Amino acid sequence: MARILTGIQSSGRPHLGNLLGAILPAIELSNTPGNESLFFIADLHTLTSLKDGAIRKANTHAAAAAWLAFGFDTDKNIFFKQSDLPQVCELTWILNCFTPYPMLANAHSFKDKSNKLSDVNAGLFVYPVLMAADILMYNADTVPVGKDQIQHLEIARDIASAFNKQYGETFVLPKEKVDEHVMIVPGIDGQKMSKSYNNYIDIFASEKELLKVVKTIVTDSKGLDDPKDPDTCNIYKIYSLVADKDQIADIRAKYQAGGFGYGHAKQALFEVLWTKYSKERELFNYYMNNTHEMDAKLKAGADKAWAIGSKVFADVKEKVGY
Ligand code: TRP
Repeated sequence: MARILTGIQSSGRPHLGNLLGAILPAIELSNTPGNESLFFIADLHTLTSLKDGAIRKANTHAAAAAWLAFGFDTDKNIFFKQSDLPQVCELTWILNCFTPYPMLANAHSFKDKSNKLSDVNAGLFVYPVLMAADILMYNADTVPVGKDQIQHLEIARDIASAFNKQYGETFVLPKEKVDEHVMIVPGIDGQKMSKSYNNYIDIFASEKELLKVVKTIVTDSKGLDDPKDPDTCNIYKIYSLVADKDQIADIRAKYQAGGFGYGHAKQALFEVLWTKYSKERELFNYYMNNTHEMDAKLKAGADKAWAIGSKVFADVKEKVGY
């Protein structure tokens, strides 16, 4: 049995790119029989950059509501909020004392951020140690992450090895699981869909807002009557990621035949997005209107996580003499 653990960044409402590239594949992985999954919302890590408490709360709720709306099974799995188990901060301190300073100073994500950001705080510096604590606390063996997080997993293994060397077998050495075939979803301008490019489609938007954003998808200037190449069209590319096979074949033929304008294609994409996710949209809104219910689910998840973490943590504290 694999114990899978991953931290979910909560930078607001997940968009279509997050959904197809990360949320749905992770939910699928969690449904694999025999796997035990611990997924948590990494709301402590966000303090390194985001200082507004109300936004943090709203972002955390939006992330949780999206995962729940898309069917993450919180009975089979463990779903919690990082800050509900503040013991991870205590473990971070202990692990800090087993982390060579140069290893953090040379981490590429820290170097990148410290070159770009005006707020270069110590939290940003020890970010990988908190991440190591997240993982080691639960003896997770498999950690699904994006390519940009591979070095953080190396750091977690180095810290775990240093501790094990001093005190004997304590931590499991975790391995990253990087999905090489991660789906790249184009945004409305054709670049990779991303919050930071402001080119994303909000799947939970209202009907009016959704239609408005779909209408802004960039196309070439072919006229209504012209035959069109579906494979170079952003509308078609997004459509083919969400529609079913028959719908895709139908639209493809219409593009090639001519007499089918980009306005028609946009309307078709809007309709698929609107109907396909109607149940999830409703559930998302339900959770966002009932945040107490969500908080209770997350709290119950934290209790389940702690049933695992408390054993590891007690062992660590005993070994270091607390
Ligand atoms: N740093 C991760 C990211 O940016 C999020 C994260 C925090 C995480 N703690 C984790 C991922 C532990 C995996 C395991 O995506």
